Amino acid sequence: MLQVKSVIKQFSNGDNKVLAVNNITLTVKQGQFASIIGKSGSGKSTLLALLGALDRPSKGRILVDDKDITKLSDSELVKYRCQKIGFVFQAYNLVPNLTALENVMLPMEFSKVKKGERKKRAQELLKQVGLDDKKQHRKPSNLSGGEQQRVAIARALANKPSVILADEPTGNLDSQTGKMIFDLLHGLAKSEKTTVVVVTHDLSIAGRTDITFTLSDGKLTEKK
Ligand SMILES: Nc1ncnc2c1ncn2[C@@H]1O[C@H](COP(=O)(O)OP(=O)(O)OP(=O)(O)O)[C@@H](O)[C@H]1O
Ligand SMILES: [Mg+2]
Repeated sequence: MLQVKSVIKQFSNGDNKVLAVNNITLTVKQGQFASIIGKSGSGKSTLLALLGALDRPSKGRILVDDKDITKLSDSELVKYRCQKIGFVFQAYNLVPNLTALENVMLPMEFSKVKKGERKKRAQELLKQVGLDDKKQHRKPSNLSGGEQQRVAIARALANKPSVILADEPTGNLDSQTGKMIFDLLHGLAKSEKTTVVVVTHDLSIAGRTDITFTLSDGKLTEKK
């Protein structure tokens, strides 16, 4: 379960202060599929980065499975991100000179899974997201956008995270491929009881998640 309690994130650019996240409180239950929507600059990516401990809040608490991640030391944070969280980005962010298979194996290397096991699990995950053996050996530049995003999802699942955070995962895809990626994430939330939080501009996607949070100028203005 994800609990955000009175979280504030302020950025300072010289004299200019921006309250990117302005006193947000929300809960996403285990296995729930949540979306975050809102205009450009409303604080969506900032909030997601705080949930993934890529950044620390200025104030407030963030509890993941009842553990306050704002209190973790830097080395504990690295471990938290590696073991608990899977990230998916709009731009896929795959390592260009590694094959699809090697990209999915990489996070398991950081979490010290044995090599044979890494390969086996990566192959299974890629199969699960629909990439056949031949495509698993291609580098990202030789895969379509939808295929690259499926590799990124397989990579996000590598260390069996309890939470998947996705920032505009369908933003670079046509609507049909986007729907496929959405269905994949949705299926995961249900079958693996993974908590999934997706930032999206696509209201047809947001409308099909379990819960939708709307942000406006850093504030949570609607929950449904
Ligand atoms: N590192 C930073 N330093 C200063 N200001 C920042 C920083 N990151 C974000 N901001 C500001 O915080 C506000 C929220 O930004 P954020 O990226 O969270 O918006 P967003 O909702 O994800 O927008 P988009 O839909 O365009 O991706 C914006 O005003 C932005 O300019
Ligand atoms: Mg953003």
